[in-house]
Amino acid sequence: MATKLPDLDRPIVLVGLMGAGKTTVGRRLARRLGLDFVDSDSEIEIAAAHSIAEIFDRFGETGFRDGERRVIARLIDGPPKVIATGGGAFINDETRGLILARCVAIWLAADVETLAERVSRRDTRPLLKAGDPLLLLRDLAARRNRIYAEAHLHIISEAVSHERAVDRIVEALARWAPA
Ligand code: S3P
Repeated sequence: MATKLPDLDRPIVLVGLMGAGKTTVGRRLARRLGLDFVDSDSEIEIAAAHSIAEIFDRFGETGFRDGERRVIARLIDGPPKVIATGGGAFINDETRGLILARCVAIWLAADVETLAERVSRRDTRPLLKAGDPLLLLRDLAARRNRIYAEAHLHIISEAVSHERAVDRIVEALARWAPA
């Protein structure tokens, strides 16, 4: 049985660093709430007919961010849903402004050791190809965490199962009211 959040009139957007579990937790959260789920990276790949790595190669990070902003703006329209975003989406001022104004933003936070362990399972992320993923993630965390902290809700995703992370999100959402 889906859990109903009666006052939720906007998309739920998961933000946070690579490896935080945004896609896996987002999909389970959507199932729990009886909502649709979309992953912004997958939607960008469909819209561009290229993989994320190919988009970075051909258009650079700036080109990728531009497409990402447009795709997320489109996903926010329509009925409430759960949206997992790529780790840099919320760092873009325009994308973040849109998410904060029109959605409930949830920062899935984890320590960099946990993130590095999780991202080691896939080597498709262009920003982690430049060196040791642990050091790169540490640098990204140092620059980005204060920005992720602008999200409406903060959920610690390390050392708990994905189902428990979903429990924590549902509890936090039940208490949350738009300002
Ligand atoms: C990025 C995170 C990736 C993807 C792209 C850039 C980032 O998504 O959007 O490689 O800037 O942190 P995940 O967070 O889903 O890995």
